[in-house]
Amino acid sequence: IADVHDQIDHELVSKTQIEEKINSVAAQVSKDYKDTDLLLVAVLKGAMNTLVAFSQALSINVQMDFMSLSSYGDGLSSSGTIKVRQDLACDVKGRDILIVEDIVDSGHTLDWLIRELKNRGAASVEVFALLEKPSRREVDVPLKYRGYEVPDEFVVGFGLDYKERFRNLDSIAVLKPEVYQGEAV
Ligand code: PRP
Ligand code: MN
Ligand code: MG
Repeated sequence: IADVHDQIDHELVSKTQIEEKINSVAAQVSKDYKDTDLLLVAVLKGAMNTLVAFSQALSINVQMDFMSLSSYGDGLSSSGTIKVRQDLACDVKGRDILIVEDIVDSGHTLDWLIRELKNRGAASVEVFALLEKPSRREVDVPLKYRGYEVPDEFVVGFGLDYKERFRNLDSIAVLKPEVYQGEAV
């Protein structure tokens, strides 16, 4: 297993750009939900880095819960079938929820989760997604808070993985083609 940085082709979004965007969204959310008992629902595993940075940048007091969902598996594209690896710990009935997600690709994961939370009786469900790949959208998902648009390349870092690796990279980057063409991981 080689050094992470040797496997990166180029950086798409820097650590500083990520911080700036997350801080500005957090400032807006702190205003919008000033008088609300907000519940953040992070979609594991990809959203873990965004959740930490985002929640720490909020000036309002929030609750947090986690749902671990898988649509990619080990593949290079979303399967469209959502697997619940681990469910929320709390009851969302009557709660105002902000879903925190790392990326919207086909849109199936968020489309499923928004419906699911509403079915469970959530009072409101909105979304913050740090990244989106508009060219790959199959279902329309309403994003109240958005970060950066990325091209249709396989992006990793800041929570995003390729075969469970590269989540610990502190920026968003594109892998060298040989990494996902062969065994170089
Ligand atoms: C990735 C990503 C989003 C989802 C986006 O998760 O973190 O949750 O796919 O794709 P979609 O819009 O096409 O549904 P993944 O299934 O890889 O699980 P992970 O977060 O544990 O990596
Ligand atoms: Mn995910
Ligand atoms: Mg993944």
